[in-house]
Amino acid sequence: MPITIRDATIADLPGILAIYNDVVRTSTAVYSEQEATLEDRRAWFDQRIGQGYPALAAEDSSDGSVLGFATFGDFRPSPGYRHTVEHSVHVRADARGRGLGARLVEPLFGRAVSLCKHVMIAGIDAANPASLRLHEKLGFEHAGTLREVGTKFGRWLDLVFMQRFLDGRHARAAGHAAGAGR
Ligand SMILES: CC(C)(COP(=O)(O)OP(=O)(O)OC[C@H]1O[C@@H](n2cnc3c(N)ncnc32)[C@H](O)[C@@H]1OP(=O)(O)O)[C@@H](O)C(=O)NCCC(=O)NCCS
Repeated sequence: MPITIRDATIADLPGILAIYNDVVRTSTAVYSEQEATLEDRRAWFDQRIGQGYPALAAEDSSDGSVLGFATFGDFRPSPGYRHTVEHSVHVRADARGRGLGARLVEPLFGRAVSLCKHVMIAGIDAANPASLRLHEKLGFEHAGTLREVGTKFGRWLDLVFMQRFLDGRHARAAGHAAGAGR
């Protein structure tokens, strides 16, 4: 299947919505039982693009359908977190396990560096081995597990944080947080 990874457009939003709502209905990957509407996805897309953040889509070049998407946004709103982003990635159920998740997340690293970001965070449900494996494969390190901070389908959920340095500015490597003020 020929696949193109590219910036998402408004025309991709129905495909992105279908993938997102399937994930909401069938998994604990998203801590919500509330399906989104097309208007919600449009607001999400406009916010990302308005902030200069990317939203990538994987397109099946044979029929133009959306096979997955990935994006990042601010980790937390306080200004001191401005060099840290949190990303998300979702692949259509029938396209999983073929490396597409990795192909969607990898280009986010360069995009984040070009925006002067230093760390990328993944918040992953502890019962999501495919995502844990994907992120480990992409160089993310386990940073901690928050126990029972989420709930869905009538049970508590543990959230694993993984993190990846994006550039060479870590304090541990350089002896100081070089460039952290920018
Ligand atoms: C998580 C997700 C994005 C991964 O995308 P993908 O295209 O399937 O990922 P990849 O094929 O690039 O890699 C998945 C890796 O997990 C492994 N994997 C898949 N299912 C697994 C399982 N049940 N247990 C352990 N490893 C598993 C695969 O073998 C692969 O590792 P490998 O390359 O070493 O063999 C995709 O499964 C998905 O969209 N799931 C539903 C939504 C979701 O969980 N999003 C992420 C929220 S944090």
